[in-house]
Amino acid sequence: MNGLKIVGMGRGLPVKHVTNDDLAQIVDTNDEWIRKRTGISARYYCSEDESNTTLAYDAVVEAMRSAGISASQVGLCIAATVTPDYAVPCVACRIQEQVGLPDGIPCFDINAACSGFLYGLHLLSCMPVDEERPFALLIGVEELSRVTDMSDRSTCVLFGDGAACAVVKLKKDGEFYSHIGARGNTEILNIPGLNKGMSYIHMSGREVFTFAVDIVEKEIERLEEESNYSLSDMDFVVLHQANERIIRHIQKKRDIPEEKLIVNIGYLGNTSAASVPLALYELWKAGRLSTGKKIFTAGFGGGLTWGSAVLEF
Ligand code: COA
Repeated sequence: MNGLKIVGMGRGLPVKHVTNDDLAQIVDTNDEWIRKRTGISARYYCSEDESNTTLAYDAVVEAMRSAGISASQVGLCIAATVTPDYAVPCVACRIQEQVGLPDGIPCFDINAACSGFLYGLHLLSCMPVDEERPFALLIGVEELSRVTDMSDRSTCVLFGDGAACAVVKLKKDGEFYSHIGARGNTEILNIPGLNKGMSYIHMSGREVFTFAVDIVEKEIERLEEESNYSLSDMDFVVLHQANERIIRHIQKKRDIPEEKLIVNIGYLGNTSAASVPLALYELWKAGRLSTGKKIFTAGFGGGLTWGSAVLEF
């Protein structure tokens, strides 16, 4: 197993910020309902000249700059997404081309929906390490506005676009706690295809809610049973930002102090694979991740998929 250390972070957000009042002009909804049921006040949507790839590019450039590394030092690039611009080439290969990552390194995408970043961390702990190029790029990126049915009020208020990238230094024969899992189910949450304007998110909100709180609680129990960590050892808890009520439920159940919990769904909405790294980015940018800090992070989503990890700084 490899040890993982995040040494840089970056993000990419579209320019257009869409408020609940903006959505109330399009569908039968209102700011009060959305905020009370989800905690969301606004979200970002890509405009014509923005896309999954432009968001990923912005995140990668900032992350490499913050890590102080050049493209030639990157030995692996993974993008987690369910909304790539192209079916082929994948986002990671397009980033390789645009950023000038070394020829011959592995670059690929993973589709584990909102758990994508957790799946990516787990994979990084298992991948061969290129000792000459020990840095990996792990990107979470989504353009969910492209697959959002703007006439369906039960889903369109939830999702947003965005990207974040972590530069991860890999160390052979290290230690890293992570866990991933899945339970194949097409009914509860699906996006049938990738054709622009033709394929929308379908979701049974209540069932997803029940699944989410149950699986996050189980991931916390697993952490405490199968590792030497306990949740109270953690300096921060970063959960997938799907609905603030899900996060608050877990907070109450596990008595998580407010200052340890990261909640940024209010201005971003649910950005699927980008949600966990976008929350980590905020901690990083605020300078709250000094050496020795520990973060428990967990995600859940379509597939159904889930995952959790402990990041040590
Ligand atoms: N504005 C106003 N009313 C709305 C609405 C909206 N945007 N969306 C739904 N409603 C209405 C429904 O039509 C329903 O009306 P009715 O009682 O007259 O039939 C009522 O609100 C309750 O709908 P319901 O779907 O039962 O609400 P809810 O409390 O379950 O909240 C979600 C809906 C989607 C916010 C909630 O189920 C949720 O967040 N689930 C998890 C979703 C998720 O995390 N998805 C991503 C997973 S990665």
